[in-house]
Formats: sequence, C-alpha cells, structure tokens
Amino acid sequence: MAGARIPGPHMRRVFLQGKRIHLRALEPQDLTDRYLQWLNDETTCMGNGHAIFPNTRRKMHDYFKATRHSRSDIVFAIIAGRGERHIGNVSLQEIDWVSRNAAFAILVGDRKWWGKGAGIEAGKLVLAYAFDRLNLHRVHCGTFENNIAMQKLAARLHMKKEGVRREAAFKMGKYLDIVEYGVLNKEFLARENS
Ligand SMILES: CC(C)(COP(=O)(O)OP(=O)(O)OC[C@H]1O[C@@H](n2cnc3c(N)ncnc32)[C@H](O)[C@@H]1OP(=O)(O)O)[C@@H](O)C(=O)NCCC(=O)NCCS
Repeated sequence: MAGARIPGPHMRRVFLQGKRIHLRALEPQDLTDRYLQWLNDETTCMGNGHAIFPNTRRKMHDYFKATRHSRSDIVFAIIAGRGERHIGNVSLQEIDWVSRNAAFAILVGDRKWWGKGAGIEAGKLVLAYAFDRLNLHRVHCGTFENNIAMQKLAARLHMKKEGVRREAAFKMGKYLDIVEYGVLNKEFLARENS
C-alpha cells in the first residue's frame, strides 16, 4: 500500500501487542546473564519455585530448546517500550488439548518493572490468546500464600480462588500453602467484554 510504513526489525517479531509492553517468542538473544540472574535471585524468586537449585547457562539453553517448538508449553518474552528491553517471561504450560486446560506462569524478572502494570497487561494478552486463538477452556495458576502480588494479579485476570493446598511448598525456611486460582473461557471473555 502506498505510504504504508514498513515496521522496524523488532516490530516484525511482535506477536501480541499491548500498550506499554508487547509479547513475542523467546529468542536466543534473550538468553543473557540478566535472564540467568532473574532465576538465581532469592528476592525476585521469593514467590515462585526458582532459586532453589542454581540456574546455569546450560539449563537456560536447554529450557529454550525444549520449549521453542513445543505445543504444550508456549513461552513469550515480555518486551517493554518501543525498543527491545526483555523484562520477563509469561507462559502457558502443560497445555492439555483434551481437557483444554493450561497453567499460567509469569516472571517479571526486571524488578524495576514491578508494580507498573506489566503483569496485568502481559496476563490479559496471554489469557485472551489462550481463549480466543487456542480455544482453551480453563487457565489456572497456583501461587504461594505470601505472594500477594500474584494473588492480586490473579484477581485482576478474573481468576477465582479455587482452593488451598496446605503446606505444599517449602521456601525460605518454611512450609507455605499454595493458593490455586482458575478462570474459565466464558468468565474471562464476559468480564473483558463488559
Ligand atoms: C507477581 C508479578 C508477576 C506481578 O507483576 P507486576 O507487573 O509487578 O504486577 P502489576 O503491576 O501488573 O500489578 C498486579 C497487581 O498486583 C499488585 N502488586 C504488584 N506488586 C505488588 C506488591 N509488591 N505487593 C502487593 N501488591 C502488589 C498491584 O497493585 C496490582 O493489583 P491491584 O491492581 O489490585 O492494585 C511480579 O511481581 C513477579 O514477576 N514476581 C516474581 C515472580 C513471581 O512471583 N511470579 C508468580 C509466580 S506464581
């Protein structure tokens, strides 16, 4: 089309466009020391299952290789701003194509981005993708009792609290309950379109 702008190289890779962030496939250039550090950092991983066994470049590359062509684990890099600042990952994991269920996982690894709405934006993009494009039926997420940010994020993603697995995780010296959340396709789409 005459006058149409040709998108810059990073825009050609955008898969899901938000306002302040976009999501694209995780790529080899994302496998940096910053990313490695996110998964080794006790504070960043206070509310998730990482930073228990040391993360290594090898494990990071193995994870990338295992997921890049997977149809049961779909991983997106969260990219901030107009440039190419990789600030975290968000994924649909263990997709069950019979029951059409998947687990939601998110890590905003760059702590400067915590509390700025990146989680809500990335989460809504991924859930809309899960329901509208993949035709999944339910997406769920479990989080530690002390992960208030994730519990608030689950509520903002229209997830309902479904139950508690008592003392199911051991983290930083104590047993923690795992709080389970889930949202059905019809619930998410009704809330988002209302
Ligand atoms: C949990 C996480 C994804 C939230 O992402 P985020 O971009 O910081 O969150 P947002 O800014 O989109 O905010 C989401 C909600 O959490 C709240 N929130 C964010 N940080 C918070 C904090 N430190 N304490 C309490 N609430 C917090 C926000 O206020 C918002 O709720 P509200 O709209 O009802 O006020 C992010 O903190 C993270 O990646 N943590 C480390 C990894 C992790 O714990 N992942 C989840 C494992 S199950």
